[in-house]
Amino acid sequence: MCGIVGYIGFQKASPILLAGLSKLEYRGYDSAGMATIEKNKIKIVKDKGRVENLYHLDETKKLEGSIGIAHTRWATHGIPSKINSHPHADNSNSFCVVHNGIIENYMELKKFLEENGYHFLSDTDTEVVPNLIDYYYQKEEQEDGQKVLRAVKQACSKLIGSFSLEILSVYMPDHMIVVRKDSPLVIGKSNDENYVASDIPAILGYTKDFYLLENFEYVVLSRDKIDFYDQDLNPIQKHTTTITWDAMAADKSGFDDYMLKEIMEQPTSIRETIGSRLDSDKCNFDELSFTKDYLSTLHQIYIIACGTAMHAGLAVKNTMEHLCKIHTEVDIASEFRYRNPLIDEKTLCIFISQSGETADTLAALKLSKENHAKTIAITNVLGSSISREADSAIYTHAGPEIAVASTKAYTSQITLMLLLIIYFAEVLENTDTAELKKIKDALLGLPNKIEDILKNTDTVATIAKNLFKEKDVFYLGRGIDYTTAQEASLKLKEISYIHSESYAAGELKHGTIALIEKDVNVIGIMTDPNLVKKTVSNMEEIITRGALTTAVVSDATLKLVDSSLFHNIIVVPDTITYLSPIITIVPLQLLAYYVSKEKGLDVDKPRNLAKSVTVE
Ligand code: AGP
Repeated sequence: MCGIVGYIGFQKASPILLAGLSKLEYRGYDSAGMATIEKNKIKIVKDKGRVENLYHLDETKKLEGSIGIAHTRWATHGIPSKINSHPHADNSNSFCVVHNGIIENYMELKKFLEENGYHFLSDTDTEVVPNLIDYYYQKEEQEDGQKVLRAVKQACSKLIGSFSLEILSVYMPDHMIVVRKDSPLVIGKSNDENYVASDIPAILGYTKDFYLLENFEYVVLSRDKIDFYDQDLNPIQKHTTTITWDAMAADKSGFDDYMLKEIMEQPTSIRETIGSRLDSDKCNFDELSFTKDYLSTLHQIYIIACGTAMHAGLAVKNTMEHLCKIHTEVDIASEFRYRNPLIDEKTLCIFISQSGETADTLAALKLSKENHAKTIAITNVLGSSISREADSAIYTHAGPEIAVASTKAYTSQITLMLLLIIYFAEVLENTDTAELKKIKDALLGLPNKIEDILKNTDTVATIAKNLFKEKDVFYLGRGIDYTTAQEASLKLKEISYIHSESYAAGELKHGTIALIEKDVNVIGIMTDPNLVKKTVSNMEEIITRGALTTAVVSDATLKLVDSSLFHNIIVVPDTITYLSPIITIVPLQLLAYYVSKEKGLDVDKPRNLAKSVTVE
């Protein structure tokens, strides 16, 4: 959580910092601030509230410096307030810091610094950092060009937790120092100007050449030079990675909200995910080299993730078992990491994460490696922590996802997982090739089917006009439709703040049906021809109790139900059952979107949430 951005060059820094912060607001938006150095003095402007507030402050207009650091906050320690906003400076205003992450041992460090004469203004964990740097700077006896860097290094060696830091100092007024540990940070290189940010889209408008930092690499930036050091401060060489997204990919491109844009992009993002993987006879995964021997001796596969990414795992669990005949479990990363799971070298762990930075997923990955499991990361962000930590990384290539509510990442995650499953099945040679061919053809047909859904959004927009007034909504489904119900329910609650639950349709009568009364809204997902009749029976039980029902059916299952039973019907195109979550979720993403709009809420920045959950 939290977004940081930095600029060093020949232009006025503040407009560049503000533009970068606006693009990073999906990471947190309860306060914002920035600092520049002018005439050897650190100048800080910060306040509670959104980045937009900073634009209007007189102090912002007065910032002239051409070197600056900035921060948009998702509060962890201390309420959102001006004093708790970043940047934070040391007591003598010689060092100034923005920080993304959490300093777990900040209480001990605070005590230590207080005993050494320092005092604190805020309730944050971050404020210890500039003061600790100052403490070590004062202790340094050797006067040379690396005195500040050594103080930063000594301070960082005392920090427990996660951090990406941008540091300004009056002792090096033409430089910026940055470092990261378990929190993301990239450096953008341009001519006589350099940029730093938590995420590529924030600075994609200025450069396409990026350095991806490893943990404890220290970087000293000036306007025309970037020097890299390892954790012992030995100089190191790094190479840039060129990013192929254009800046438009990270803009709203005329849509009211990022979420709507990202829903609409799904035909394209799925095409990108498939890419050239289906070009040949065999499913193409050059970055992996699994052998029949290895896969056939596996005892189990774990798919581990959080939130929507975990739902993508649920959507493919049965497919993995059916096609590869390997026992597969899906686990929530925050549970997995603390439950002492049974994993060994005969376990394959697959981690799904859009951001590639989710703290619990990263911790679960490290745990799996410690227990000798082989690990694969499925992420959307090149060079992200999870993709670098795993034994192998494969990318969804869905393009930047900015809205907090994940949409196109989910459909791309399922698509990529299905491709991976086909690849495993082909290596294992234990599935009929005709069946695999059917799935491949169906995958290639997905984008056109989603385009058809997106051409006509009137039905869901109309349903939203009634649904937005509700307090509770239930989503029901069986089999693969139950996994879609779970994701649809999460989508609705996170952006509309309506209480919503998902249930396996057959489970309802074991308790929850007690909540069904007249006019309660229930959405039944029934796209699996083998299970539709069963779910209809469950829907009839709730219709008898006065519920208002919406049926989500496919062209094929529509023929198997009496549509007059339901108040609303949403019809999606047919596909083979394994792929149905990718299609069925689309109108339900739109439904959540329209409900949120009807309520007048901020769709892209729902309350209390942040896009990238880099804290536990
Ligand atoms: C989805 O809409 C959420 N905002 C959230 O559940 C998200 O999927 C989860 O935090 C995992 O994020 P990741 O994919 O970046 O790891």
